[in-house]
Amino acid sequence: MSNPTYPPNAELAANAHVNAEKYEEMYAASIADPDAFWGEHGKRLDWIKPYTKVKNTSFEPGNISIKWYEDGTLNVAANCIDRHLETRGDQTAIIFEPDDPEEGAQHITYKQLHTSVCKMANVLEELGVRKGDRVILYLPMIPEAAYAMLACARIGAIHSIVFAGFSPDALAARVNGCDAKVLITADEAPRGGRKTPLKSNADEALLHCKDTVKCLVVKRTGGQTTWIDGRDFDYNEMAMEANDFHQPAEMNAEDPLFILYTSGSTGQPKGVVHCSGGYLVYAAMTQEITFDYQEGDIYWCTADVGWVTGHSYIVYGPLANGATTLMFEGTPTYPDAGRFWAVCEKHKVNQFYTAPTAIRALMGQGTEFVEKYDLSDLKVLGTVGEPINPEAWNWYNDVVGKGNCPIVDTWWQTETGGHMMTPLPGAHATKPGSAMKPFFGVKPVVLEPTSGEEISTYPTEGVLCIADSWPSQMRTVWGDHERFEKTYFADYKGYYFAGDGCRRDEDGDYWITGRVDDVINVSGHRMGTAEVESALVAHRDVAEAAVVGYPHEIKGQGIYCYVTLMNGVEPTEELRKELRTWVRTEIGPIAAPDLIQWAPGLPKTRSGKIMRRILRKIAENDYGSLGDTSTLAEPAVVDDLIENRMNK
Ligand code: WTA
Repeated sequence: MSNPTYPPNAELAANAHVNAEKYEEMYAASIADPDAFWGEHGKRLDWIKPYTKVKNTSFEPGNISIKWYEDGTLNVAANCIDRHLETRGDQTAIIFEPDDPEEGAQHITYKQLHTSVCKMANVLEELGVRKGDRVILYLPMIPEAAYAMLACARIGAIHSIVFAGFSPDALAARVNGCDAKVLITADEAPRGGRKTPLKSNADEALLHCKDTVKCLVVKRTGGQTTWIDGRDFDYNEMAMEANDFHQPAEMNAEDPLFILYTSGSTGQPKGVVHCSGGYLVYAAMTQEITFDYQEGDIYWCTADVGWVTGHSYIVYGPLANGATTLMFEGTPTYPDAGRFWAVCEKHKVNQFYTAPTAIRALMGQGTEFVEKYDLSDLKVLGTVGEPINPEAWNWYNDVVGKGNCPIVDTWWQTETGGHMMTPLPGAHATKPGSAMKPFFGVKPVVLEPTSGEEISTYPTEGVLCIADSWPSQMRTVWGDHERFEKTYFADYKGYYFAGDGCRRDEDGDYWITGRVDDVINVSGHRMGTAEVESALVAHRDVAEAAVVGYPHEIKGQGIYCYVTLMNGVEPTEELRKELRTWVRTEIGPIAAPDLIQWAPGLPKTRSGKIMRRILRKIAENDYGSLGDTSTLAEPAVVDDLIENRMNK
């Protein structure tokens, strides 16, 4: 069956940064001679000491090493702020739209951003933060989150943001994981009309951290917090006193900019490390080209800075380009399901970037919430985080974009730092659900999963790998280079293995089919099933647990848990509730199980390995195609699981 195809928008294509012809030419050049291509495009940044080397990378087993622009020096914050002051000091850098629409938006100019970031940098230095030190951010989506990121970059400190929806335990693990010197938080995080008590979560987390960790507290709501003198510091008071000038540090291109913890298929989250030079070149270039951002445009990415999308496409990419970027503190449905569109109208948003899960949730509320608002300023729509189903794509295209706004379906990952595959709005036709084409410098390959052989024909399907490095590739796992190599380069030698499956259609366009490992994607949030399992088995009544994803109408995937209780423990509704709350407390609300099935036994091989394939099928209600179960130690457990499945 051929797919419906939407040609690129001709009006937009006429003035786009990249049209069809230019894409072909630039893509070919980027693959033919990466040094020349990226040597040229690295010049979009201001370097203190210009680089003379561009690419120095190896995917060779035992010697995984990734360096870009390795002898250049720069400061990321100076690139995002200082260099714009002369030409656009009075232009709005950040529009802040608070959770409560009554509170009113703030417009922060590049000059004001400069002052606030300098002050924050001086405050952090007063607390002892130096080049190379780690700083944890646990903040609402407020301008201070961007100030803190850029202040770290200015000093040369490495920030690691922990999404405000994570629990005190998860926060403590990250503070300890990177041995942070300072934790920056706020009193409370307002979201969707509710408040998360960030400071009290931080207090709880810090009980499990070294007592030298200092806590810098931003005032957001003015809500009551407890205070420990000598450990807690009042940001607003200190910033008033702080000098509003700060000299940015000279950093090597390969000095780490940030660590971001993300879930994998095994063990606890790992600290993905991104460095200064290559990351910023790529984040800036993709922000400009993927969204066709033009001078004066208002650009809005609805992500949270707790995720990589917020790093690259709310803060670093747009600000490096001198763009106006909108930061939204709230949720799509507060005060009602028209909030996104109200904000688009109010700020005359030109590029809008969100996740399929949000689109699906809003679709269900009816079109009147969209039609109430004037969305005529929209030019380009984007999606990210999970495969978008054609129904959601069509709704986005017809109801939001009125058939006039190309949709860029951007496939990428925390590890890749920036867009890897996406249609470009002035260059490519789009197909609902397809990420279409690689960005410049990206060499996707489809491998046969078992043999690891490259499949060069199409149409075809297999695992998605990338054959060579690109500038914003993660450099290592914080403190564990071996894990980096094992996770991404061991299964398919000589390639970066993304963890996703993909299809290449008859036209050579790419379709991401979802994760092929034990990572699930819940409302666009990436979750390791192993993390949820280890939270469950930490409960005194749980003997064993296996967690899989299952199709969920709004969330994309839901969390399905098979739980074996300790001998003699009664499986009650109450216990089910308790386990849900337990996982919320251990990891955070985003990890709360959707369905919990009591499993007297789990299907295992004779060597004791849990057969997740079978559990996935049962959770998907697709037990007709279980495959061969005869190798199981106890085939009968499968019948019981099917009989009592939750997803009927
Ligand atoms: C999935 C988010 C299909 C994919 C930037 C990937 C997608 C994981 C898309 C990374 C897309 C992201 N189409 N799937 N456009 N974008 N994914 O690290 O499975 O939070 O491996 O980065 O999300 O999630 P992460």
